[in-house]
Amino acid sequence: MIEDPFSLSPNPATLFITPGLKSALHKIRYTIHKRQGLTCILGDVGMGKSSVVRLLYGDFLAREDYRTAFIPNPSFKSDFAFLQGLCGELDVPLRKSYFKQENELKDYLAEQYSNKVNVVIFVDEAQKLDQKMLESIRSMLNFETNTAKLIQFVLAGQLELRDRLKEERNKAIDSRVFAYSLLDPLSFSEMKRMIVHRCEQAEMPLPFPEEVMEAIYEMTKGIPREILKLCAQAYETSTNLMGEKSVTMEAFEIVREDIVRV
Ligand SMILES: Nc1ncnc2c1ncn2[C@@H]1O[C@H](COP(=O)(O)OP(=O)(O)O)[C@@H](O)[C@H]1O
Ligand SMILES: [Mg+2]
Repeated sequence: MIEDPFSLSPNPATLFITPGLKSALHKIRYTIHKRQGLTCILGDVGMGKSSVVRLLYGDFLAREDYRTAFIPNPSFKSDFAFLQGLCGELDVPLRKSYFKQENELKDYLAEQYSNKVNVVIFVDEAQKLDQKMLESIRSMLNFETNTAKLIQFVLAGQLELRDRLKEERNKAIDSRVFAYSLLDPLSFSEMKRMIVHRCEQAEMPLPFPEEVMEAIYEMTKGIPREILKLCAQAYETSTNLMGEKSVTMEAFEIVREDIVRV
């Protein structure tokens, strides 16, 4: 059971898999499985990128034929620090120069490949990768056989990541992106099913009547994190402040006015 139905943490167990998410997950798993190198998950803040990355990371972590590393925030001082951070996650011995470190990684990847182990690196907040780090990913994607990449990258980032990759100077890496997945806002019916799903997980009755659902959707435009914040506040105001069992329009209005004022 999940304690807090409206928690904002990127817990993959609370994800409601919409058709859009299902197809994104399929595309990413396929890219990894087929060793096609690079795939990107893009979306505005609050759209579910971190949750999706954690879901995939958890899946592959549990498998013996995969070796995975998860970099939640690539705010490294330099491309060398980035490479070392990544090698450290994979237990690759650390070396004193970029060149030696890259060679060490290359040997490691060749060995994993011969053992039929696929190496996958998940990077969240990938819009923070600087130019040199993008270059170093491009260079790692050159480790390959005739048919397969020795290392796979899944980059999750805000839309500015796509804009960066579409710049002329990043043509080489952009052309290596096997698939982009863009996370869209939820439709009204998806939002309702997502809220029902989360209430079920918390084993509580659905506290939002239809008119409140409509008001929540209008205000949040289907962005999951905004939906959950509003749900949490409206629920809290109704139950704890007003002593109601379900969320009234009156409670919703109080919350809305608070939000609109700032
Ligand atoms: N499809 C979904 N079903 C349920 N909760 C979701 C869904 N998409 C996003 N969320 C929730 O919204 C919040 C924000 O998601 P997060 O993954 O942190 O977004 P991002 O990394 O894109 O900013 C999290 O609490 C997450 O669990
Ligand atoms: Mg995130």
